[in-house]
Parts: sequence; structure tokens; C-alpha cells
Amino acid sequence: MTNNEVIDSRGAAFGLHLHIVADYAQVSRLAADIVTRIVRETPDAALTLPTGETPRGMYAELVRRIQAGELDFSAVQLFCLDEYFGKGIEDATSLTAWLNDVFLAPANLDRDNVHLMPSQAADPESAASAYERDIEHAGGLKLAVVGLGPNGHVGFNEPGSPRESRTRVIDLTDESRDQNAGYYDGDQAIPDKAMTMGIGTILDADLVVLIVSGSSKAEILKATLEGPITADVPGSFLRTVGERLIAIVDQDAAALLS
Ligand code: PGA
Repeated sequence: MTNNEVIDSRGAAFGLHLHIVADYAQVSRLAADIVTRIVRETPDAALTLPTGETPRGMYAELVRRIQAGELDFSAVQLFCLDEYFGKGIEDATSLTAWLNDVFLAPANLDRDNVHLMPSQAADPESAASAYERDIEHAGGLKLAVVGLGPNGHVGFNEPGSPRESRTRVIDLTDESRDQNAGYYDGDQAIPDKAMTMGIGTILDADLVVLIVSGSSKAEILKATLEGPITADVPGSFLRTVGERLIAIVDQDAAALLS
């Protein structure tokens, strides 16, 4: 499936598949390989893919494959993972605009197949329920790729998010807002609320892929994979799906794992 050299696969010890690879480029390629495999198996699969610094390399590789005709994304149903509350694709400083710039536009995806987070809905609660139903009607998520926030969030499920949480509006922590300000040029004020798929929404996916890179994530990755399974570190809930979780991390991020 991949040319990447997996330095360490400690699946047995964790019940999950942990791939420690050399560097960011290999995290990106291995993640792109998994997305590619799922889409080739199920061309109309429902997926969710993350925003942030970590997935940039994965998107670059997916765009390359799509543009080269090696990968057909034309029937994929792409569900947005999270968005600032009140913002949408038309705001340059939204997550969906980021996704559009990095993936949707260069990959020339059909907008009808892109399910925007209803982050501007007048009635967010019923819009969130409708979004969950849309995922169900699309056959459920075949794949959820997520990054890991510096505070252990996945999507925007901040510390305190329960395992069973579904799509909803959530208060962002200052830490996440500071982190997200770095995604945009200039001094951008990040809203104090977001709408995100819940932990339960993500964990219902047939396959969950966690991508983590860099030494700045080493401590939170250790807490996520080796600490207690707790809402204080929402990423730790990923381990509850056992073998349906593939963690792809580089050596710098893995430095503190035992
Ligand atoms: P990052 O964010 O990829 O920008 O580090 C990860 C996340 O918050 O999910």
C-alpha cells in the first residue's frame, strides 16, 4: 500500500495501529495512501478530513494524485469536521475557506458533494441533528482523519467533551484560538465558539486516522495514547475504538512514547 518505511508498529501493545514514521513527509504520504485506498474501495464513501497545519502535506499529495488522474474523488461525500460558529466558506478566515484553498478548489471537487458544517444556522441544534442524519444517509463515515490539538482536542472537541458527544456548538479555549490564529495571515481574531462533529460522530467512522507531527505534540501525544482515557484529553477516547484507529506519527511526535 505504501513505500513509507514504518519504523515501529506497536499495534499489539495498544490494540490500535500505531505507525511511527521518520518525518512529516512520511506522515503525509501514509495518510494520503489510506485516503486513497478507502476511496478506491468505495468511490462514493462519506469521509471527514481535518484542517490545520498537520494535514497540509496529505492534501498536497491527494491533490497531486487527483490532478494526475490517479485518484477519483468525484463521488466522495466530504463532510466538514468543524468550523468557527457564525463563519462559513465565504469568510476568508474560516476553516472551510482554508479547506477550499488547500483542497476543494485545487482538487476541483463538486460542491454538491461537500457537506458544509451548518455553522451559521439560526437553529444550530436542529441543524446539527440534520447534519448527523446527512452523515447517516450517506452511509455513515467510512473514514475520519483527524489531527490532535495542543490541548488534546480532536475536531474542536475541547477538554471536557464526552465520548458520546455529537455535532454541536462548543466554546473554544484560548489555547485553541491562539493556535488557530496562526492559520491565517495577519492578526485574525478567532471566534470564541465553533461547531464540530462530536467525539461519538468521529468514533462511529469505520476507520479513524490520527495524524500527528513534531516535537511540540510529543507531550500531548503521550497523554493521548498512554495516559488515562478521559474527557480531559478528548483524543484519548480515540483508543476506545481499538483496531479501527490508525495513529500515524513522526519520530519527533513519538519521542516521549514508552
Ligand atoms: P494542527 O492542529 O494540525 O494545526 O497542529 C491540529 C488540530 O488542532 O486538530
